[in-house]
Amino acid sequence: MRTVATTALALVLAMTVTVPASAATSVHDVTAAPAAEPILAATPPLGWNSWNTFACDINEKLIRDTADAMVSSGMAAAGYQYVNIDDCWAEQERDPASGKYVPHHERFPSGIKALADYVHAKGLKLGIYTSAGTETCARTMPGSLGHEELDAQTFADWGVDYLKYDNCNNQGVPAQQRYQAMGDALKKTGRPIVYSICEWGANQPWLWGDSVGGDLWRTTGDITDSWPSVMSILDQQVGLEAYSGPGAWNDPDMLEVGNPGLTQGESRAHMSLWAVLNAPLIAGNDIRSMPAWARNQLTDPDLLAVNQDWSGRQGAKLRDSGDTEVWTKKMSDGSVAVVLLNRASTPAVLGTTAAELGLPPADTGYAVRNLWTNTTPVSAGTIRAQVPGHDAVMLRVSPGGKGLPPMVVVEATPGKPYVDGAEANTVTVKVHNDGTTAVTRARLLLTAPEGWAATATGPTQVGSIGPGTTGTATWSLTADRPDLGPVDLTASASWTWRNQVYGGTAAGRFTVATAPPAGSSQLSDLTWLYAENGWGPVEKDRSNGETAPGDGKPLTIAGTVYPKGLGTHAPGRIGYFLGARCSRFTVTVGIDDEVGDRGRVGFEVWGDGVKLTGAEATGAGAGVPLDLAVSGVDVIELRTDTLDGANYDHADWAAPMITCTP
Ligand code: GLA
Repeated sequence: MRTVATTALALVLAMTVTVPASAATSVHDVTAAPAAEPILAATPPLGWNSWNTFACDINEKLIRDTADAMVSSGMAAAGYQYVNIDDCWAEQERDPASGKYVPHHERFPSGIKALADYVHAKGLKLGIYTSAGTETCARTMPGSLGHEELDAQTFADWGVDYLKYDNCNNQGVPAQQRYQAMGDALKKTGRPIVYSICEWGANQPWLWGDSVGGDLWRTTGDITDSWPSVMSILDQQVGLEAYSGPGAWNDPDMLEVGNPGLTQGESRAHMSLWAVLNAPLIAGNDIRSMPAWARNQLTDPDLLAVNQDWSGRQGAKLRDSGDTEVWTKKMSDGSVAVVLLNRASTPAVLGTTAAELGLPPADTGYAVRNLWTNTTPVSAGTIRAQVPGHDAVMLRVSPGGKGLPPMVVVEATPGKPYVDGAEANTVTVKVHNDGTTAVTRARLLLTAPEGWAATATGPTQVGSIGPGTTGTATWSLTADRPDLGPVDLTASASWTWRNQVYGGTAAGRFTVATAPPAGSSQLSDLTWLYAENGWGPVEKDRSNGETAPGDGKPLTIAGTVYPKGLGTHAPGRIGYFLGARCSRFTVTVGIDDEVGDRGRVGFEVWGDGVKLTGAEATGAGAGVPLDLAVSGVDVIELRTDTLDGANYDHADWAAPMITCTP
């Protein structure tokens, strides 16, 4: 929503000076914005929302305590402003006399105005929620459809600063019409209220969200605190970068940083990616009690600087190599923010080059600031890092690196990613000098994982590693009776540059597995290598159910009950080691009857990173049988993809049978 504010106008005018030529194609080129209507959300909004952690379990004390925590945690000082109440804040019935919303008597006894006053006194802003329908999504309170002017005015009278406007129970009224009605109503109040359109991307709101007065619009269905959910939402942002700019932000949904379903590394990747996407950063964790690492991720000044810098376009995917991706955003100072994303569960070295980033040639190299570790070495042009599984490294690369220490990257690579039982393995430790001058006296070290013996097969010291070259050392690894599962490796190296000693470490991983026995086996009787699931854990021989382990029902597709199989929820992937000993895989895929005729899922079977076959299933349809050859495949992976949002995607792999030879 656009409103009149001279300070914002000054900011916008100042920003036009730094817009690079590449921005000329953006549909939201600020130079085209009418001078009389400067922009309310000139940078992506920063705040907090109750839904991801608390759902309907909210009350005024929680909101007040959260506002307090916003200040005491340092989030407010870092730039976070909005304290947003989501669904369930009102009574089920409107006031019979005035027709106005009634704040919930038990949970919000002091009313929303008092809450707004409290939040404003802290220097913060208050957000509220309703739906462009007859009821909200949780069906605990009325929606605003047909009451737009009265409700917008009520919010304005209460001192509300932000409205999230949802899409449930919309009675089939066209989206644009419903969102326009509220946009007009908000404008009519004369109060600057950030207008957050929550239409889930159903009708491409990026094409019309700005014109109906929106400042941001959801591009997808709901996020959950699971890695597959974050990755699936990321995938749906590709191509939307042209439709974003000041006062008109693509919203890939609120943050799950710090929530229990994500590891620290997964949260770090989520935060890094949302920063380059210019996403509104609306924290969704309990900020009253968050651990230091979550607070640090949310408030990292370098990350927020990337997110808040509008350089003409949101960031975009530069390179996709399957499990590793490079996302970048051009910054207004000429530098480039880079996210090196590793979607796999094992560590990987990945990167790009200054030329691929579009940076000009630089005689003294490029300063490569690691935004999470705050180190700034120089690179001659190769930009790479070792990234743990389900994690990201975030860098900011600028031309000019005079006097900085060389960028040296340590890598630990197992000879085989999977070993069968007590097979031996090798590990090569590499030290890449990507800097502009040589480093000397490099010492390489591999720490043997517990239960394993590591023997160096050659020298572990390298006298000099010139720029653009790599020093290596190799170890052979053996174990008598290794445990099945991942073996985590730690390599380290030290080197000298200008009489100072520097060091670096790298993680590596291989997995001890056993191939299925000869004959036919059900996959649910075998041990998987890894299992990622969109909603709770994968269940064996039962449907996915809800998020608790073991809470599924008998696997049932279109009335047929299957005693064996895997009950999953898209998006997800499950890997099994076949050790090139199996020949055939048969399975029936479908949506479990526990969700009725809802849900739609893409099922795919992959072998060693290559798609072998796929099928689509809907809740209304029958199970789809798949039968394929898997000869020579080391690792088979069962993938599910949400085709139209993840809701109800209870994806069954029924009777998944693998046939193997001794
Ligand atoms: C929808 C929205 C969510 C949340 C809930 C509340 O699912 O997309 O972000 O607001 O409704 O019921």
